[in-house]
Amino acid sequence: MDAARRLLYNRAGNSLFLHSQGVEESASKLALRYGVDAKKASLAGLLHDYGKIYSHPVLYQIALEHDLGDEFCLKEPALLHAPVGAWLLKQELGIEDEEILGAIRVHTTGAAGISCLAKIVYLADCIEPGRDYLGVDDLRKISGVDLDKAVFVALERTIRRVLDRKKILHPDSVLFRNSLILALTKNNQELHKYEAYQYNPAKEEKENTPE
Ligand SMILES: [Fe+2]
Ligand SMILES: [Fe+2]
Repeated sequence: MDAARRLLYNRAGNSLFLHSQGVEESASKLALRYGVDAKKASLAGLLHDYGKIYSHPVLYQIALEHDLGDEFCLKEPALLHAPVGAWLLKQELGIEDEEILGAIRVHTTGAAGISCLAKIVYLADCIEPGRDYLGVDDLRKISGVDLDKAVFVALERTIRRVLDRKKILHPDSVLFRNSLILALTKNNQELHKYEAYQYNPAKEEKENTPE
């Protein structure tokens, strides 16, 4: 862990290093709360953005050479650092733990059926202490109570931002969202009772206010 931290310190810019440490801290706390291996969560949190120490053209080239990203990831720089980063961690740091690599691989899009560790890294990325946006404190509170619900709220925010910016919405994010709804409603077909479906224009307006 210390070697990984040193490497990141030396190679990442200051803000990326601070963000990575923030995600490490939040992932560790979430892991303890939800009964997941805290060491794995810490390491995955610390290294989740490892791919970002490389420029997009380099990531793109590596992805092409090693068949790492689908057409959507290749098109969208914000997505590509996740699958390529996981690959780089295996090559450069010798990380072999598939649970850690898998969590890092999906940390930008999510995916249906991902591990608890992957959900924790996804959420920690959104609530780490350095994050400051409208609703983050509410999300931090939900994070301490219900992992799936917190991940769902974080994912919906991300999806809204992607739509607002006319960016590519990765299909895995849609599948992730649907799988969370099914988990949250326990497949009981009562989706209309779930609060996310109770459309409230005033609330929507507030949530969509640019930060
Ligand atoms: Fe990232
Ligand atoms: Fe991140």
